[in-house]
Amino acid sequence: MMVLKIIILLIWVLFIVSQTQLLAEPSTHQLQGEYEYMTNCAICHGAEGKGDGPFAEQLTKQPSDLTFLSKNNGGSFPETVIYQLIDGRRVTISDEGHEKYNIEPFHGPKDMPIWGDIFRSVEGDEGAVEDRISNLLEYLKSIQAK
Ligand code: HEC
Repeated sequence: MMVLKIIILLIWVLFIVSQTQLLAEPSTHQLQGEYEYMTNCAICHGAEGKGDGPFAEQLTKQPSDLTFLSKNNGGSFPETVIYQLIDGRRVTISDEGHEKYNIEPFHGPKDMPIWGDIFRSVEGDEGAVEDRISNLLEYLKSIQAK
């Protein structure tokens, strides 16, 4: 049953991600990030980022509370780490200087989807993947507990 749930979730995620690009763009990166968050992240992390989304109870690992990222990092938003955690891919630079992305999760198998792969598969180019993750960071910064 768990496998079926995961397959249904993945199909849903791919569908939503593919729809996201068709819609009109909000004016700022933060708003775009908010929209991205509500469509792709809130199901697990909750509408307010508290880790209590409707899908959370299906998971073995509790989705993180995303409003305490700064507090847990001594008051500053850990931008690079969070970027990498969302992306989830390991990036290596080859001898020729090309960036290579492989589908290995950043920290071993996790319940958290590998967004770098999902975004890459719908966007096709790396610049757009970076934009989407950067917009998410702008939004996440705006919801940090004070
Ligand atoms: C299928 C459920 C699910 C979805 C959808 C999901 N996450 Fe997660 N996320 C998790 C889980 C579970 C963890 C805890 C992972 C772990 O430690 O293994 C996590 C961890 C994280 C972390 C690490 C936080 C920390 O304290 O280290 C960040 C950042 C994050 N998610 C952001 C996002 C963003 C942004 C999105 C949307 C693009 C998203 N997540 C969508 C389940 C999900």
